[in-house]
Amino acid sequence: MTVPIPDHGTDRDTLLDQVRAAAEGDADWHGGRTFSLVYHHSDEHHAFLEKVVGAFLSTNALNPIAFQSLRRFEAEVVRMSAWLLGGDDEVAGTMSSGGTESILLAVKTYRDRARAEGRIVGDDAPNLVLPVTAHPAFLKACHLLDVEPRLAPIGDDLRVDVAAVAGLIDDRTIAVVGSAPSYPHGVVDPIPELASLAIDRGVGCHVDACLGGFLLPWVERLGREVPPWDLRVPGVTSISADLHKYGFAAKGASVVLYRDAVLRRHQFQVETGWPGGIWLSPTIAGTRPGGAIAGAWATLRAFGVDGYLDLHAGLLGTSDRIRTGVATIDGLEILGDPPAGVFAIGSTTDEVDVFAVADALETRGWHPDRLLSPPALHVMVTPVHAGEVADRFVADLADSVEEVRGRPERSQEGQAAMYGMVATLPDGQHEPAEEFLLALIDGLYEV
Ligand SMILES: Cc1ncc(COP(=O)(O)O)c(C=O)c1O
Repeated sequence: MTVPIPDHGTDRDTLLDQVRAAAEGDADWHGGRTFSLVYHHSDEHHAFLEKVVGAFLSTNALNPIAFQSLRRFEAEVVRMSAWLLGGDDEVAGTMSSGGTESILLAVKTYRDRARAEGRIVGDDAPNLVLPVTAHPAFLKACHLLDVEPRLAPIGDDLRVDVAAVAGLIDDRTIAVVGSAPSYPHGVVDPIPELASLAIDRGVGCHVDACLGGFLLPWVERLGREVPPWDLRVPGVTSISADLHKYGFAAKGASVVLYRDAVLRRHQFQVETGWPGGIWLSPTIAGTRPGGAIAGAWATLRAFGVDGYLDLHAGLLGTSDRIRTGVATIDGLEILGDPPAGVFAIGSTTDEVDVFAVADALETRGWHPDRLLSPPALHVMVTPVHAGEVADRFVADLADSVEEVRGRPERSQEGQAAMYGMVATLPDGQHEPAEEFLLALIDGLYEV
């Protein structure tokens, strides 16, 4: 359907009312009813970010020489991130627009390094070895960069099976990947073992800490046990870490860090033969919104170490509250040993189908995220879940379990039916489901 741009402009105040009204039908993230997508610290921090991002709305980090402010902010965000993640002065990096871009950049860097070093020549197909639980951004990166993804299984503890990783590495492997933590289960892969394997086999080791980069360091400093995973681990050669998740910066802010500037070089592109001038680009995007960079810099300084420790102590408290509550519900359990407030809730009995529980939670106003394998509910704790929200969630979860317990017909209705079907699809038989989902995306663009 054709939608023409209106002939005449509309008064901006009227439009402001309209966009605000349009958002009223969105998921209630502010009330803590969602467990992903939004990382909201407080209305005060939000208002501060609006001002900082707004002040830099028109700026463009494509040319950091024109915008010296952004050059300095980005360089300092990289250095502060390197400090937080156990790096030394040799560590080098860039900011990017988010986790997916940071991951794309890391995969490109390893691919181009392998080419430059003559390990991948001509039609050789480079490969990347990653846990089956690694974020799909790696599959997207592999697809775009013509790298073969080799998926390693996870063990009973939901962490990648290092022996399987070893078996998948060959002379065309550009890097191995581990997550800290993984999105699905919130567990940290055995990074020291992966990194030492990477050293032995002469390949890179990328740790995806998009979720954990600005979460696990605070959890560790608060005295909780966190397995080693950052740049203090020998053999870890790069890390992706998102400021716009548990760093509570404005959206569009992530960092990718490398062990040194020699490795980072493979990320950059320069062109000297373009009639349009000398062109250089550190990341994927051309135009780079300055607001996200300024927002990240300002956020790190607004919180400071003590602010982040306070904030993450609060999150751990909320996480403990929910986990303790879940432990009292007959038929549910937390999967694996997640160190922070990202975790999965699975079922311990055939009597309780977690997908049916998720549907029952929806009728109580929640928007639970569902995991396929094993079937589970996904929780990512943020400040909006504190106190009464956590208690309400646990109470509604307990009620939902009782509502569906021993009622297999509930698995045949609603979203439970679709999730249940997809969860049991055998390998190689996903095509109809994929076609359905592609059509769903098409449909999103209808007005
Ligand atoms: C572990 C992990 N890696 C990468 C990403 C991708 O990040 P983004 O959505 O910012 O592209 C996510 C997103 O949730 C994630 O959890």
